[in-house]
Amino acid sequence: MTAMGIKIAPSILSADFARLGEELRAIDAAGCDYIHIDVMDGHFVPNLTFGPPVIEKLRPHTKKPFDVHLMIDPAQPSLADYAKAGADIITVHAEADKHLHRSLQMIRGLGKKAGVSLNPGTPESTIAEVLDLVDLILVMSVNPGFGGQSFIASSLGKIKRVRDMIGGRKIEIEVDGGVNADTIGDAVSAGANVIVAGSAVFKGGDYAKTIGALRTAAG
Ligand code: DX5
Ligand code: ZN
Repeated sequence: MTAMGIKIAPSILSADFARLGEELRAIDAAGCDYIHIDVMDGHFVPNLTFGPPVIEKLRPHTKKPFDVHLMIDPAQPSLADYAKAGADIITVHAEADKHLHRSLQMIRGLGKKAGVSLNPGTPESTIAEVLDLVDLILVMSVNPGFGGQSFIASSLGKIKRVRDMIGGRKIEIEVDGGVNADTIGDAVSAGANVIVAGSAVFKGGDYAKTIGALRTAAG
């Protein structure tokens, strides 16, 4: 367990889209820490989900922080819309847009926490120059686009290297993709403290039980 504590962030990508408000209230009551919201544009990733109007409608259903993972390119033109819709953390991909530094400045300028995400094929050196502009680093442990994929083991080395790289900075490390009771322990040992779990939570039936089991398995 890191000094910052383990946070469980269920990804609503695996929730019942026809009952999203209800699903949000259920994971809130089940004790989650963040609500992980996957925004996909059918261009940066081969899948399409939802945008600011849906997030805005979800906002009144919980007070828990909205952890908005933007898998969109470009992201800059709509950052203000996501801030306005109720995002607390806005994470952009290092592979999207042309000017990562500017994207992060924009997010902080909107008064939100800034996150940057790395695809499995992107080295951590890509973000070495922006560490003082980020509040969260999201290490993808699957190729983004879909829930229910298998955890890519080489992500563990990257999480460790990111943890070393950030030194004493107050930056959260989030892991996303294929995390379940079997993989969470290794991700936490490597240095992740925010754990995204989509299918592991929503396909598990009893959300409180599943979130509790994840916390136990996190060690
Ligand atoms: C994938 C998304 C993930 C996804 C994880 O592109 O970023 O947040 O929902 O789903 P699981 O936990 O099922 O791998
Ligand atoms: Zn995600």
